[in-house]
Amino acid sequence: MCGIVAYTGSNQAFDFLIKGLQRLEYRGYDSAGIALLNGGLSVYKQKGKVQDLIELTKGKDVHGTTGMGHTRWATHGEPNQINAHPHVSQNGDLAVIHNGIIENYATLKEALLKRGHEFESDTDTEVLIHLIEDIRNHEGVDLLEAVRLALNEVVGAYAIVILSKNDPGTLIGARKGSPLVVGIGKDNEEFFMASDATPIVEYTRDVIYLEDNEIAHIANGELKVKTIQNVEKTPYIHKLEVTLEAIEKGGYEHFMLKEIYEQPKSIYDSMRGRFNKNDLTFAMRSLREYESKIKNLNRIIIVGCGTSWHAGLVGEYLIEEFARLPVEVEYASEFRYRDPIITEDDLVIAISQSGETADTLAALELAKEKGATIYGICNVVGSSIPRITHAGAYTHAGPEIGVASTKAFTAQVTVLTLIALGIAEIRGKITKERLRQVFAELEVLPEKVEHVLKNCADKVLEISERYKDAENFLYLGRGVNFPVALEGALKLKEISYIHAEGYPAAEMKHGPIALIDENMPVVVVAPKRGYYEKVLSNIQEVKARKGNIISIVTEGDDKVKSISDYAIEIPDTEDCLVPILATIPMQLLSYHIAVMRGCNVDQPRNLAKSVTVE
Ligand code: AGP
Ligand code: GLU
Repeated sequence: MCGIVAYTGSNQAFDFLIKGLQRLEYRGYDSAGIALLNGGLSVYKQKGKVQDLIELTKGKDVHGTTGMGHTRWATHGEPNQINAHPHVSQNGDLAVIHNGIIENYATLKEALLKRGHEFESDTDTEVLIHLIEDIRNHEGVDLLEAVRLALNEVVGAYAIVILSKNDPGTLIGARKGSPLVVGIGKDNEEFFMASDATPIVEYTRDVIYLEDNEIAHIANGELKVKTIQNVEKTPYIHKLEVTLEAIEKGGYEHFMLKEIYEQPKSIYDSMRGRFNKNDLTFAMRSLREYESKIKNLNRIIIVGCGTSWHAGLVGEYLIEEFARLPVEVEYASEFRYRDPIITEDDLVIAISQSGETADTLAALELAKEKGATIYGICNVVGSSIPRITHAGAYTHAGPEIGVASTKAFTAQVTVLTLIALGIAEIRGKITKERLRQVFAELEVLPEKVEHVLKNCADKVLEISERYKDAENFLYLGRGVNFPVALEGALKLKEISYIHAEGYPAAEMKHGPIALIDENMPVVVVAPKRGYYEKVLSNIQEVKARKGNIISIVTEGDDKVKSISDYAIEIPDTEDCLVPILATIPMQLLSYHIAVMRGCNVDQPRNLAKSVTVE
C-alpha cells in the first residue's frame, strides 16, 4: 500500500498535499515526496516520514496550484531518497506517483534501456514514467493518449497520478487493483485525488471512486473519465457520509478487523507474479539464484517468534511433504543462545512481519557468521532482516497496523507454500500433475478466503457471545493444522486476555484432557482430509467429558457437525492450504470475543507490534 494525494485548482496545492499525506501515513511510511508545477516541475522527496519531508521543504519554492504527493510502502527498491516517489522521466518533464506493483517492470525496463533510457532508482514505478515519455515521443501523441497506451502494456496493479511540466493545471490519474478517489470541489474550481477519501472529505463530499482500468483526466477545470480501451465513461458522483476516522480504517471499527478482511487481496498479492499455472513454472528469483545450493541442501532451519514461528511450523510440514528435505523450526530466542550446530550446507530461513524482531535478527546473524545461507520472509521492505540476508521473498501483505498479526500470517504461509513447491521442483521431488493440482487451488484461494469471511461471520459472532466469559480455551489440530491450533490460541490470548492453549489433537490424552469439563470450549480443526477419522475420535473424547466443541469443518460435513456444539464450515481445498482457510474463523473469533470483553483490540496491553528488544 502507500498514500497518494494530488490537487489542481484555484488554491495553492502545498498545504493540501502535506495534510493529505499525514492523513494517509497509516498506509505506508518508508518515504514521502511531492511534485509541484510552479513554472517548472519541482520535486522534493525524502526517506522517512512526512515530517521529514516538511523539514526538507522549509525555505524551498513550494508554490503552485497543481501538485501531487506520495507516502511510500516499498515493494521494489529499499526505502531511501532515490527510490522515494515522485519519479521523473528521462527529460525531467513528467512525474509519477504510484501505489501497487508493476509485475512486468523488468521486461519494460530492459526495452527502455535499449532505447537509451537511464534509470536512477531500483523501483518498478520509475519504469512507468519513462515508458509514458517514450511512447509520447515516438508516437507523437498527447500526454493522455501516451498514458493510456502505456497502461495497456503494464501487467500488475496501480493507482497512479501523472504531472507534466508542459501541461499546467493537468492531472491524470488511473487505477487498476489499487484504489484512487477523485474529489470534485464546488463549481469545479478545484479537484482532488487520493488513495482514499480521508484527505478529501474536509474539502468536498462529492467524490468519484475510479473503477479498474479507468483514467481520470483533469485539465482546464474539466474532468473526463475514460477506460484504457479508450471508452468514454460518465462517472457516478458519490456523496461522502463517513467520518475521517472511519475512512482510515476502511469503515471497520479496528485496523485488525480491516486487516482480517484484506486477506483475499493480501494473499493474492503474496502470490502475484510468482508462479504460472499454465506452464507450471515459478518466477521466484530468490529460489532460482540459489538453485545449486538448494539441490545440495541437507537441512533447512526456520527461525521466528510468535505468529511467525507458527508460520514456520506450517512451513516445516509443507517443505518436508513436498521437497522431502529435513526441516527444523526454532524459537529464535532459544536458537541464538544454545550455540546451535550450523554448517555451510544449511539454509536458515527467518520469518518476520516487521523484519526488526531482535531475537530473529540475532539468530540470523549467528547463522550467517557460521556460514549458513540465510533467507528472509518479511513484510516490510528494506527492514533490518532483508538487509542482511543472502536472498528472500517479501510477503507484500501491506502495512499491518493491528498488533495481533493476521494478514501477515496468511501471507507468510502462502509464500512458504510457494517456497516448498519451488524447492520440491528444483530437487525433482514433485510431479507436474501434483504442481498443477496445487496451483489450481492457489489460484482460487483468495476467493475461497472471501467465501469464508462472508459465510462464517454470523456463526462466529454467535460463538463469541456464548463463550466470551470463558476462562480457558483449548485449540486442537493435527498435522499441518497443529500450528493453526497454536496460532488460534495465541490470537485469543493476546487480544482477549483469556488463557488459551494449542495442542496436537492426539496429545490431549497426555495431560490437557484433565482440564476438560463443561466450562472448557475446545476449538478443533477438523477438515475432511488428512487425519479426519483420528480427529473425529479426539472430538468424541472431549464430548465424553462434557467439553464444548467448536469445530472447523469442511463444508457439507454433517458427521462432525452433528457432534459439535458449534461448527464453522470452510470450503474444501488441498491439505496444504487448509491452514490458511482454517485460520480465518479463529482470527474473527478472537477479534469478536476481545471486542465483547471491551479489550483494546489494536493495541493489546503489554504488547508491541515489533519486539525490537530482547
Ligand atoms: C502476533 O500476533 C504477535 N503480535 C507476535 O507474536 C509477533 O508475531 C512476533 O512478535 C513476531 O513479530 P515479527 O513477525 O514482526 O517478527
Ligand atoms: N511498487 C512501488 C514501489 O515499491 C509502489 C509501492 C507502494 O505502493 O507504495 O515504490
